[in-house]
Amino acid sequence: MNRAVKFELKNGKTVTIRRIRGTDVDAMINFFDKFVRDPSTKYTSQYLGQPKKNRESSVALYDDPNNLFLGAWYDDEIIGEASIVKVTPQNQKFRGLTGVTGNIIFDEFTSKGLGRKLNVMIEKWARKNSVHRLEAEVFHKNIRSLNNFMKLGYEIVGIKHDVAIVDEEWMHIYILEKILAG
Ligand SMILES: CC(C)(COP(=O)(O)OP(=O)(O)OC[C@H]1O[C@@H](n2cnc3c(N)ncnc32)[C@H](O)[C@@H]1OP(=O)(O)O)[C@@H](O)C(=O)NCCC(=O)NCCS
Repeated sequence: MNRAVKFELKNGKTVTIRRIRGTDVDAMINFFDKFVRDPSTKYTSQYLGQPKKNRESSVALYDDPNNLFLGAWYDDEIIGEASIVKVTPQNQKFRGLTGVTGNIIFDEFTSKGLGRKLNVMIEKWARKNSVHRLEAEVFHKNIRSLNNFMKLGYEIVGIKHDVAIVDEEWMHIYILEKILAG
């Protein structure tokens, strides 16, 4: 996934999607800084005032061939990202056969087809890179995200109760998985 692709959103705007590299670290730090002020943060684990991502470890994470971080750019700014991180690929028992996935998009750009597109690209990479099992965790109130994963064939396989409080309400976390053939 080295080539940039253009993707037209349902509102006619075009975004450019490509792998995030270590050299994009500052753009990603800005992205998270902005995202925590965005309404879309509500049902995610990101929070206002969270410490800035560590530069060095972020660069290593983005440049690690065992992971894929995809960014979507609009007007030279990252407006969404999706990722898959292989679980302990160096451990012979696990061999990176599970990939943990996640995605966040600025509110203005949600519900326009981008989340689905990014997840499809993540899955394609996972299949090519020997990932057998995809896993995601989603707050139970995050309907957009649950729909997005479930429409792509993820199933809810577990629940963690009372994990966080949002608007004075306990949040549960659904664990979703999708087993890839092969
Ligand atoms: C969750 C998220 C990544 C989904 O991406 P998206 O671009 O909004 O989703 P898409 O437009 O590609 O739609 C994919 C599916 O998601 C569901 N969906 C999207 N917007 C929805 C909405 N407003 N209400 C209910 N379901 C919705 C639909 O099932 C949709 O499929 P359909 O268009 O065939 O009906 C995005 O909304 C987001 O980043 N939200 C904020 C951050 C977040 O919650 N991240 C996930 C943390 S686990």
